[in-house]
Amino acid sequence: MQVIRTRRDIRNWRSEVSGWVGLVPTMGALHAGHMSLVDVAGQENDHICVSIFVNPRQFGSKSDFATYPRTTDEDLSMLQDAGVDAVFMPDAGEMYAGSARTSIHVADLTDRLEGASRPGHFDGVCLVVSKLFNLVQPDHAYFGWKDAQQVRVIQQMVDDLDMPVQIRPMPTVRDDDGLALSSRNCGLTISGRESARHIPAALELVEQAVRNGEFSVDLIRRRAIEHLSGAEDLEVDYVQIVDLESLQPLDRIDRPALVLIAAICDDIRLIDNLLVSSV
Ligand code: PAJ
Repeated sequence: MQVIRTRRDIRNWRSEVSGWVGLVPTMGALHAGHMSLVDVAGQENDHICVSIFVNPRQFGSKSDFATYPRTTDEDLSMLQDAGVDAVFMPDAGEMYAGSARTSIHVADLTDRLEGASRPGHFDGVCLVVSKLFNLVQPDHAYFGWKDAQQVRVIQQMVDDLDMPVQIRPMPTVRDDDGLALSSRNCGLTISGRESARHIPAALELVEQAVRNGEFSVDLIRRRAIEHLSGAEDLEVDYVQIVDLESLQPLDRIDRPALVLIAAICDDIRLIDNLLVSSV
């Protein structure tokens, strides 16, 4: 496995390999969710490249960026065991080389949900992901549905800019208690974790309600919020039910919809979602 730290070297690596290349962009602190993307990338490509870069441009606050978990040695040994060919690990100076004046803004899809709570976040994601696509030139790029809005925004960017890469969204990997795996979960206290479990449980309630033929968004949302309010010290940011394509709020679940929850627990922002359809 090659560990590559410069843009020049990753371009050289790309020019030397032939066949299909799969890219898995990450910010490190890897867990089984990330590794599920790596596994599928390995099945579908001749070469796997994983990037590890905690991207300062997508963080709202400096302290959130500074405290983001970094576990490089463990990450590299997991990737080595998974048969990864190249790990691209630039530092911020290398990635942005002083100044980057270009921004990529995907309109409409980014002004709500995570975008409303984290202004500029998706511009930062789009900038770094498009740079990674240009450097690695992957045939396939792997993203988790755990960050459903991110998947939707990146797919839109790729379509709008005719980027020659196929986006492969992958299902959310969860812990035994239902909580979606996240690099941030390691900061949860025992009681915080108990509270956080209300998030997947609320999504399960929604799933059941839809399966039982309930499709009033108002009613379903109220039930989910009520369930979340039973959790101690869980501050709900939003519970939204939106159209899968436009991410616009729905009144009725009469088409493929995303149920999205964001909540803060132990000062950690947690997000999760569920895809539902009444048909
Ligand atoms: P990061 O949070 O490290 O996530 C990297 C990829 O792993 C993302 O596509 C994310 O959706 C996926 N992922 C995270 N948790 C998952 C889980 N429990 N199950 C399945 N997939 C999961 O998302 C980012 O980094 C950054 O925004 C990035 C795209 C790398 C741009 O900086």
